[in-house]
Parts: sequence; structure tokens; C-alpha cells
Amino acid sequence: MVKPRQAVQRMQAYHPPLSGRNGLRLDFNENTVACSPRVVEALAKIAAADLSRYPERAQVEAKVAQHLSLKPEQVLLTNGVDEAIHVLCQTYLDQGDEFLFPTPTYSMYEVYGTATDGVVKTVPSQADFCFPLEPLLQAITPRTRLIAIASPNSPTGTVATREQILTVVERAPHAAVLVDEAYYHFYGQTVMDLVGKLPNLIVARTFSKAYGLAGLRLGMLAAPESMHQWMRTVISPYSVNSLALACLPAALDDGEYLSWYVGEVKAARSEMADAIRQLGVPQWPSQANFILVKIGPLHRDFVRAMHERGVLTRDRSNDQGCNGCVRLTIGTRQQMKQAVTAMAETLKEIRWEKTW
Ligand SMILES: Cc1ncc(COP(=O)(O)O)c(C=O)c1O
Repeated sequence: MVKPRQAVQRMQAYHPPLSGRNGLRLDFNENTVACSPRVVEALAKIAAADLSRYPERAQVEAKVAQHLSLKPEQVLLTNGVDEAIHVLCQTYLDQGDEFLFPTPTYSMYEVYGTATDGVVKTVPSQADFCFPLEPLLQAITPRTRLIAIASPNSPTGTVATREQILTVVERAPHAAVLVDEAYYHFYGQTVMDLVGKLPNLIVARTFSKAYGLAGLRLGMLAAPESMHQWMRTVISPYSVNSLALACLPAALDDGEYLSWYVGEVKAARSEMADAIRQLGVPQWPSQANFILVKIGPLHRDFVRAMHERGVLTRDRSNDQGCNGCVRLTIGTRQQMKQAVTAMAETLKEIRWEKTW
């Protein structure tokens, strides 16, 4: 057998389910309804000849830039934020360079970081999962080249404030600081307005969550022009495919659909938080489209019994500080009623009680 690089041998395989996710999907923080009908119309207009050409992304990048009040040179579309993270790791991590981020957080930082010859350095959060600013600042060294801050963070739903983000950006001028705003729409606060004003700030957004386009794989990086020059050197010029490029303008134009979905999720999140409280299950306050709950030692039974009732949830027990935790995506109020009923029945079936 031809051995892979040592960095790859050290990696832990990440295995999300790639089939069989039937039922109410509350396991991957997707939009639980659908994308805008205007996107479906745009898809229907694609002709066979459109598929025979390599994708042309410049015009759509300009449109995204305009939508976010950025310059076209400050926008890079990516094959999901996953590719964006990969591109940043490839761009900034030489051998021994440090990729720093608080934990628990989005799994792919670790995956793409360990795949390089750099070093992944994590800073654990306390039990409240608040952003660990001081420990993070103390962990910055001259070798720190990349820092990732997901805000709102997954799987916790907690945020880093604008002041906290600015402090990190200022204290690590030699590092690229990625603020991952995948769940921005469910929170409403952003540092996008600072892109181009701070030389080392990068902001990522995805179209997988509020926009409901996870299957098209669309994300973006906003950064100063000088950084894009290098990221464009690394990225495949065709990684965002023609179908995604044809659909994105329609998604951006349908602000009404986006507002409806985000409003629905926020209302459902508040109702769900109340319902979980009434069931007596500990939870963390969330600014995203999911809630992390603490089930405790019966977490596997909980996920199984929910699945048997047609509701998929995500066991996060292997994340730092998350032993016994399960994450539930928030969908519409109607869907959450189904989830609460399933949850009440499940807790009864597994004879759940708070034992700690
Ligand atoms: C914090 C965070 N960033 C990025 C992503 C990935 O987004 P995309 O679907 O655009 O690759 C996720 C997906 O769950 C996420 O939770």
C-alpha cells in the first residue's frame, strides 16, 4: 500500500451519514423546508448547453459583493464554507504553523487543519460555552497563522461579541482571523462591515443554512483584496459549479423568502427553548438555528428513540465538553411541535431523569 502523508495518517476520519437520512432532519442544521421557489425556477431554465461550459463565476461574485456592500475583489465564492476553510489552511499553514480555535466548534477546522503540516491548537471553553477570549489571547504565539471563530458557534449556539472579535484581530496581526458567520441570519450581528478595513480579517458566509442551498454547495469568503490574491492561487477556479452559479442570484433576490424563513426559525427557537425547559432538560441559549441540550448518560438511547419517532438529532458527545449532549436543528413552529411531542415520548420511554 502506498502510505499517505504522516499528517493524513494522524487524522481522525469524519463520517457524516451519506445516506438514509429520512424523517424530520434536525441533525445537520439545514433549512428544514426548501429553498426559495425562485431558485427552483432558475434551475428549470438551465439548458443542456449551459452544462457543457466550464462555470463562469465573476459576475455572480460581483452580485454577491453588491449584496453585501463589498467590492467584487473582496469576494470569493467557494464550494461551501468547507472549501473556504480548506483554502485558508492551504494558503496560510506552513510546517509548524499554528491554527488556533476555541472548542467545541465546527469539526472541519480540525479536519482541514490536521491535513496540513501545520499544528492544530485548541482552546477549550468553560461549561457555559461562552467565547474563551482570555485563554485564546494567551494561546496566540508568533507561530499563529490562522485563527477561526465561529459566531454563532456550532454545536453550542453561543457567540463572540464584536469587541471580542476585534480584540483577537488586533492581538494577532500576523495571523489571518476567520470569522465564520454560517449562522449569521439567525443572529443578526456581523463584522462584515469591517472587511477591508482590517488587514487580517476574513468573514465566511454559507448559503447552506438560511437560504436552504446545502445541496448546491455554496459559500463565500470576504477578505481584503491582498488576501484574495493568494486564496485564488490555491482554489480551483471551477469549484463552484454552473448550477450553483445560476441559482445564487435568484436566492439573493428573494429577500422575502429569506425573511419569512428566518422569522419562522426565530419564533420556533423561542418556543422550543420554552418547551425544553418545561421538559426539565438543560440547554444552552442559542443564537443559531439549533439548540444544544444535555441528555446525559442516556444520549445514545435518546437519539435512537427520537429516530424511531421519525426525528433525526445529532449526538455531540464526542465534542470537547459536550459529553451527553445532543443538538437539535430548529425548523418551523409546526415541525418543532412534532419534535417536542417526540421528545416528551422519548424521555418517558428511556426513563430519563436529571441525574447530575
Ligand atoms: C460553523 C459552520 N461553518 C461552516 C459550515 C459548513 O457550511 P457549508 O455547508 O457552506 O460547507 C457549517 C455546517 O454545519 C458550520 O456549522
